[in-house]
Amino acid sequence: MVSSINQIAVLLSVILVTTSALQKLTELYSWSSLDYTFANDEHKSYALERGEFIPENNLPVGIEVWKNKLFVTVPRWADGVPSTLNYISLDVSTSPSPKLTPYPNWAYNRQGNCDGLTTTYRVKADSCNRLWVLDSGTVGIGNTTKQVCPYAIHVFDLTTDKVLRKYTLRPDDTNANTFIANIAIDIGAKGCEDTFLYASDELGYGLISYSWELNTSWRHTHSYFMPDPLAGDFNIGGLNFQWGEEGIFGITVSPFLEDGFRLLFFHPLASNREFAVSTKILRNPKLTSEEIYHDFVVLDSRGPGGHITSHYMNDEGILFFNLIDRNAVGCWNSKIPYSPSSLDVIDLDNEALIFPSDVKVDALRNLWVISDRMPNHLIDKLNFNDINFRIFYAPLEKALSGTVCSDNIPYAPLALPNQVIQKGY
Ligand SMILES: *[C@@H]1O[C@H](CO)[C@@H](O)[C@H](O)[C@H]1NC(C)=O
Ligand SMILES: *[C@@H]1O[C@H](CO)[C@@H](O)[C@H](O)[C@H]1NC(C)=O
Repeated sequence: MVSSINQIAVLLSVILVTTSALQKLTELYSWSSLDYTFANDEHKSYALERGEFIPENNLPVGIEVWKNKLFVTVPRWADGVPSTLNYISLDVSTSPSPKLTPYPNWAYNRQGNCDGLTTTYRVKADSCNRLWVLDSGTVGIGNTTKQVCPYAIHVFDLTTDKVLRKYTLRPDDTNANTFIANIAIDIGAKGCEDTFLYASDELGYGLISYSWELNTSWRHTHSYFMPDPLAGDFNIGGLNFQWGEEGIFGITVSPFLEDGFRLLFFHPLASNREFAVSTKILRNPKLTSEEIYHDFVVLDSRGPGGHITSHYMNDEGILFFNLIDRNAVGCWNSKIPYSPSSLDVIDLDNEALIFPSDVKVDALRNLWVISDRMPNHLIDKLNFNDINFRIFYAPLEKALSGTVCSDNIPYAPLALPNQVIQKGY
């Protein structure tokens, strides 16, 4: 009798697993294609007629959550993207496929307005109620890219929706191959004025530091920013393709270490490895690339199938990352040394999580993930009768339960991970 009940329980759990693969992430929103909150129907039909809105060219790539705003970015990879920085009001959106509202307004997002935004990928809200946005100033992707406006940093006051500052990158910060899709924000020990933005140059192989206090920027180079030539082959969403040139991509900062600085964790997209460097190095404009070479460290390889897009470390030192080869979201608790056995999968779904493109944790300790089938969009075509874009969330306790990242380790200030002490290879 006991054994047949067990068999039924096993059968039931198999059925439950096959009907809903996701165990922890809740799908909050989903879209076949995106739409925007145009002022009225005339405004929308005018935009459609003039080719200013071509729904199939709109692919969401980045998310961020601040209070009741869920920010969603849409790069201008082709014509017909009406607005690159947008939000959804979490408290009033009852639709499962809400329309995007331009932030802070339509005019700021108009193509050709170099005072405003042209294309942004991933944005970051900070604990000083600022929203940090890096505008690439580009329209197009790959060989269709046009640099319409210069690269610039825009910082918004989220409490007033006003622009606090706009800073144009110096010509020396970028090069002819520059492509920047990720930023990290480092609030220093002295508080809000003591903030740095770091930006990863994926195809120009550099890392840019911007100091809020000095209102200036500079560029670092390092061979760890390069792609691993053995890790450029990808199999995602039923497609095989090569992204062999993709260098430093996802970047995020740790909580403070004992010395009052943080670690910046980073990885090239064509790589199965994670690297780190102290923000003490990145904050000092006087150091040369030669002087800082040995301050960069390499962590254990994740092994094959370890490609990651964006990642995010929360203020408890838990790293969340998008495992694009596995249609999964993973975690690492930085109190345990970085190794394949200390990494875990939070959730995976071979349909709903095809190409998780961004991951964040909000101030209320919810994990957020967006998936967007980007390779299918770029290399093949999306089927607009299908669901293509999804946004998920999960309270952290739920997300981490049953993983090796769940925090039953007593609180201790973050120490340098073991591997960070051994420098280089
Ligand atoms: C751009 O690249 C695509 C494939 O990546 C190719 O089909 C197309 O011909 C290229 N266009 C130009 C103008 O080089
Ligand atoms: C910061 O630098 C930019 C140049 O990109 C300049 O336009 C702006 O006025 C400066 N802001 C402050 C607060 O110094």
